[in-house]
Amino acid sequence: MSEVTASTPSPAAPKKMDDIVALCRRRGFIFQSSEIYGGINGFWDYGPLGTSLKRNLKNAWWNDVVERELIGPDGNSVDIVGVDCTIIMNPKTWVASGHVGGFADLMSTCRQCKKLMRWDHVWDMLSESDWWKAIEELYATPSSVTSETLMKWAQGKGRKLAPGLALVRNPQVTLSWLAERLAAQGNHFMDTREFVRHLATEQFARDGLQTPCPHCGGELTEPRQFNLMFETNCGAVKDENSLAYLRPETAQGIFTNFWNVCDSTRVKVPFGIAQIGKAFRNEVTPRNFTFRSREFEQMEIEFFIRPDTANEWYRWWRDWRFSWWQKIGLAGANLILREHDRDELAHYAKEGAGTSDIEYRFPFTAPGFGELEGIAHRADFDLKAHATHCGKGEKMRYFDQEKNDRYFPHVIEPSAGADRGTLALLCEAYTPDPSRASGVYMNFTPRMAPVKAGVFPLVNKDGLPEIAERLYRDLRRKHSIEFDEKQSIGKRYARMDEAGTPYCITIDHDGASSGTATIRHRDTQAQDRVALDQIPAWIDERVG
Ligand code: GAP
Repeated sequence: MSEVTASTPSPAAPKKMDDIVALCRRRGFIFQSSEIYGGINGFWDYGPLGTSLKRNLKNAWWNDVVERELIGPDGNSVDIVGVDCTIIMNPKTWVASGHVGGFADLMSTCRQCKKLMRWDHVWDMLSESDWWKAIEELYATPSSVTSETLMKWAQGKGRKLAPGLALVRNPQVTLSWLAERLAAQGNHFMDTREFVRHLATEQFARDGLQTPCPHCGGELTEPRQFNLMFETNCGAVKDENSLAYLRPETAQGIFTNFWNVCDSTRVKVPFGIAQIGKAFRNEVTPRNFTFRSREFEQMEIEFFIRPDTANEWYRWWRDWRFSWWQKIGLAGANLILREHDRDELAHYAKEGAGTSDIEYRFPFTAPGFGELEGIAHRADFDLKAHATHCGKGEKMRYFDQEKNDRYFPHVIEPSAGADRGTLALLCEAYTPDPSRASGVYMNFTPRMAPVKAGVFPLVNKDGLPEIAERLYRDLRRKHSIEFDEKQSIGKRYARMDEAGTPYCITIDHDGASSGTATIRHRDTQAQDRVALDQIPAWIDERVG
């Protein structure tokens, strides 16, 4: 094996979310759901490359969690079994779990454009809106802003960008109130946020300063609770007796099956139950591509333990899950582990050993981070709640034969999003490189890469396609491989770079006569020459 050529990778350029979304669309990673009808907000489809990428992520999770040997903090093998539960469950499940009573976000509606939005998202959305940016520009030198400049803005740009803003709807009244308020507080300079709230406030005396609508600048209603569960009806009659919900998390299918699993298998505490499946939340403001969707997939483990071992298991799961994300390609400063403050804890985690999030720095959260996975000590909240609501109560306690004791096991829950994980892999892999024909390559780890290798005949004659095709068929028996004989070799490399294919194998004339092929490494563009009969082992060794 000898190295033929190599080039130095260019220095990293910043990643832009719009470019990543465009590549996902262009190369078939992710499409808008029902795009031909204009799409539907909060729903996404995966194309051929995206489906393979997401499947590789889910398979890696399932293999590493359920099928491989894992050694726990007690030095013993960690026992985890799988379940696959329904999306629609008896609605009493969601009363017991607390979702009917409490799975709500605070929501606000705009009185002008009527759009609904999550109250805790308003300021983030504002800072991204065009009209906010226009005011920021105007207010760059606060001393130059006068009633005249504001009036001019209101009658020009403001009308187009923020028709609902008090300043635009009723400039005379808003400006005269603004002057009065400023005089009353000694004309001090304020930050942009306070300034915008003044421009959004017509009748200060009634409600105080307004928080404006990010879409049109209009007046927002007081925030109200909004339940995030999608409702449906089971059976022919649509009434309150047939009401059911699409599950908002896969976890409750695991909890309600805890007793079935104990009865039908040999598991003993400590053990876990894992599930991968769809979850649905009627998110008020789905946004940031697939990050906050209304239909998404979760990869959840409920790990059942003796209550006095909660601390050690919590720490062990937290650290193992963090290192798992690193191993599949999110190594580096974009991945962090964040322990929650006590006031952030969910109702079920209040008394627990801890809760932490594994977070990734997405281009749209940078310099901040967004949650990929939560690891929570849920104590015995769920098992106890189901035991109580189904009417059997204490009788449902687990019998620990070793300790000769009955108790409700505590739970450590590592709960990850498959779509957020896929999105993080896409963002991490996206590597702009102006020196390449594609201008970009996706540096997935070989385990995650949708296509492991491309096989190309250099030209479509002289017996090269036949050799290439034989090799392709051989490799395909084990791996996902693409055969490509169209266009120039440079264009074929560019397509594979965008797909994130780690290796490209080319049969050229030298190779055909010497029984070899060149193998191009995606990241360095270096090439090795390898004997044809050694290529399957070469690929196995690197792709696994
Ligand atoms: N059983 C616990 C639970 O569901 P969660 O923090 O609400 O906890 C777990 O959700 C994971 O599911 C999150 O870390 C995230 O990766 C994913 N997730 C939650 N809501 C999502 C949404 N609207 N869109 C995409 N993924 C979401």
